[in-house]
Amino acid sequence: MTSNQKVAIVTGSSSGIGYEIALILARNGFLTYATMRDLQKKSTLESIKDKENLPLKCVQLDVTDEDSVRNAVQDINDDTGRVDVLVNNAGYGLNGAFEDLTVDEIKTQFETNFYGLIRTTQAILPTMRRQKSGIIVNISSGAGRFGYPLGSAYVSTKFAIEGLSESLSFEVEPFGIKVILIEPGMIKTNFSNASVLAKKSIDPNSPYAPLMKSMEKSIKQLHENASSSQLVANITFDAIASDKPKLRYLAGKDVEQWVAAKKKMSDEEFHNMIKQL
Ligand SMILES: NC(=O)c1ccc[n+]([C@@H]2O[C@H](COP(=O)([O-])OP(=O)(O)OC[C@H]3O[C@@H](n4cnc5c(N)ncnc54)[C@H](OP(=O)(O)O)[C@@H]3O)[C@@H](O)[C@H]2O)c1
Repeated sequence: MTSNQKVAIVTGSSSGIGYEIALILARNGFLTYATMRDLQKKSTLESIKDKENLPLKCVQLDVTDEDSVRNAVQDINDDTGRVDVLVNNAGYGLNGAFEDLTVDEIKTQFETNFYGLIRTTQAILPTMRRQKSGIIVNISSGAGRFGYPLGSAYVSTKFAIEGLSESLSFEVEPFGIKVILIEPGMIKTNFSNASVLAKKSIDPNSPYAPLMKSMEKSIKQLHENASSSQLVANITFDAIASDKPKLRYLAGKDVEQWVAAKKKMSDEEFHNMIKQL
């Protein structure tokens, strides 16, 4: 580590948005800890790191595992003694009509997307507070701004992240710590493949089967115009590099349009618009 070198930690760096954010941070001189729950997935990042001679280290961190989070943060603290940026990115989607979801499926979804973010943030905050600086970036979603059919579990986790971030930003501001929310629209990553379908919703006799079918079609269509994970990484990096970062950044033309529509429409008009998608 060179003196004055800034240190960044990214969760869920094995693919997609986390992978691109880890790369852009390392390419811009941050000593970047690209964390992932399965280190067998590190080979692509490692080979880019070697080729470009990047200040990047792959570290095991499963956001659902208290010991894994504690050990990773301890090792990074021992190595560097500081953390300038934490990017809470790890997450997956759980799809299915609310009535078809079990409480356990919803708890598991929250365990990664919400409690996982809480675990890493609480592990790193004491370091940022002591150094009187730091940036916490929470990867939310357009799903943190509005709901849609079959998304009640996933959307709830992202609404929760939005509320947590807004409140946290007040508390840590006096210690020089900033909180940033990134709200991507549809992004081409492994997200759809990794998404989990509620078990009961697979049953063709589910009363929600027709809705599942029509949503599957709409989501496929929306994905055709999805943005790249590089776009999200660029927006995230610009926010981190800004002297006065905003609380929220939208990432993608689609989410910009939806959020603008929500601002100018009544709830009922917006509800009808989402139904047409
Ligand atoms: N793609 C989109 O359209 C979109 C839109 C809005 C927001 N987002 C958000 O963006 C974030 C990244 O998603 P993505 O699109 O880049 O999808 P992705 O390619 O599937 O990446 C998700 C990452 O999270 C990791 N992860 C999952 N559970 C984890 C755990 N318990 N501990 C540590 N890492 C874990 C995955 O690791 P493994 O490889 O081990 O599974 C993977 O690295 C998520 O929070 C997602 O909600 C995505």
